[in-house]
Amino acid sequence: MFDFKRVPEIRTERLLLNAVTANDDDALYDIFSDVEVTRYNDVQTFINRREPAIFRRFIESRFEERVGVRWAIRLADAPGKLIGLAGYNVWTRHNRCAEIGYDLLRFYWNRGIMTEALRGVIAFGFREMALNRVEALVTDTNRGSCRVLEKLDFTAEGLLRQRGCWKGRYHDLWLFALLRADVMQKGLTWAGLSSTP
Ligand SMILES: CC(C)(COP(=O)(O)OP(=O)(O)OC[C@H]1O[C@@H](n2cnc3c(N)ncnc32)[C@H](O)[C@@H]1OP(=O)(O)O)[C@@H](O)C(=O)NCCC(=O)NCCS
Repeated sequence: MFDFKRVPEIRTERLLLNAVTANDDDALYDIFSDVEVTRYNDVQTFINRREPAIFRRFIESRFEERVGVRWAIRLADAPGKLIGLAGYNVWTRHNRCAEIGYDLLRFYWNRGIMTEALRGVIAFGFREMALNRVEALVTDTNRGSCRVLEKLDFTAEGLLRQRGCWKGRYHDLWLFALLRADVMQKGLTWAGLSSTP
């Protein structure tokens, strides 16, 4: 069982997922200084070079508090460069439920990278965190993100009206979820579950 001692390494066909480090600050700046990346969430678009370290410290504090884990996404054949982040923002252990979050450098969009990274993250969650339910909250206008969740066989459970509040206004958010039972019923082999515990 995952114990928050260190960020575990996850490998997929094209990707290596591991810990974010201080060496990644420039890459974090490149991702989060892009208004297209920050358009659909509560992250303020970075405008100075000090912000990545503050953001990284936030990621580390969530890990130390044992409520969240974020992996750096790297191409397996160029592992020195962080190209995105994916992980669990909030893990409520007693409910065996966690919410995913993810962001990718725009240069790499629409190549199946986030779908592949999230398969690794979600399989890890079902297997190593004993999750029963993985959730995602997505603005109704974020079509690319909704499509990723569809490709991962999440179910759109409903539109939560004005559930988000950032950048000066309220946002309606779709609640998506994938259950352990869905994985079994749909035979999603990528999730790596052979039986229900
Ligand atoms: C959302 C995001 C992570 C997707 O990453 P990605 O690696 O491009 O995702 P994938 O390539 O695996 O899949 C994207 C899918 O969305 C589709 N798509 C992209 N933009 C779309 C749009 N405007 N309308 C409809 N579909 C769209 C792509 O065609 C692709 O579907 P396909 O494989 O059926 O062709 C990336 O766009 C991103 O970082 N966005 C900004 C941050 C963000 O929104 N994070 C999520 C917050 S909930």
